[in-house]
Amino acid sequence: MERTFLMIKPDGVQRGLVGEVIRRFEAKGFTLVGLKLMSVSKELAEQHYDVHRDKPFFKGLVDFITSSPVVAMVWEGDGVVAGARTVIGATNPLTADPGTIRGDFGLNIGRNLIHGSDAVETANREINLWFSESELVNWTPAMKPWLE
Ligand code: PPS
Repeated sequence: MERTFLMIKPDGVQRGLVGEVIRRFEAKGFTLVGLKLMSVSKELAEQHYDVHRDKPFFKGLVDFITSSPVVAMVWEGDGVVAGARTVIGATNPLTADPGTIRGDFGLNIGRNLIHGSDAVETANREINLWFSESELVNWTPAMKPWLE
């Protein structure tokens, strides 16, 4: 079963949107298999955003992610990597569709509430970076057979 890594960024936690964000993924039908509130070290933030190391926003992004707690999550489901990105919306909240998390709540590209893996390989890398195997729960919701 496909899995993706999602992180509610400091702005989402500070604005009290954790429940709203989780509700949307639950309502969509994805399954939560890992969840933790955590402070992010500079090392972890730099590793996570390593692909953007040469971008002008890299330092600001790392400073932001390490400034205040985030909620790290792993979600499971058919096509969950692309599906979660649809629920999240475009990177820039100003052009994200209404009905998406960023379209409804995001302020600007640097304060866009949530990160979602952009491909299955990226998801696997990010899940391994943020979670140990023992922190992930293998389970099937009782209602699942009704969705199949
Ligand atoms: S790029 O250049 O197209 O590869 O980057 P992009 O996909 O647009 O963004 C990658 C992540 O960087 C964040 N970002 C920024 N953060 C702070 N300030 C500025 N100016 C900025 N520009 C981009 C963007 O929100 C993406 O974060 P994640 O967590 O991956 O969604």
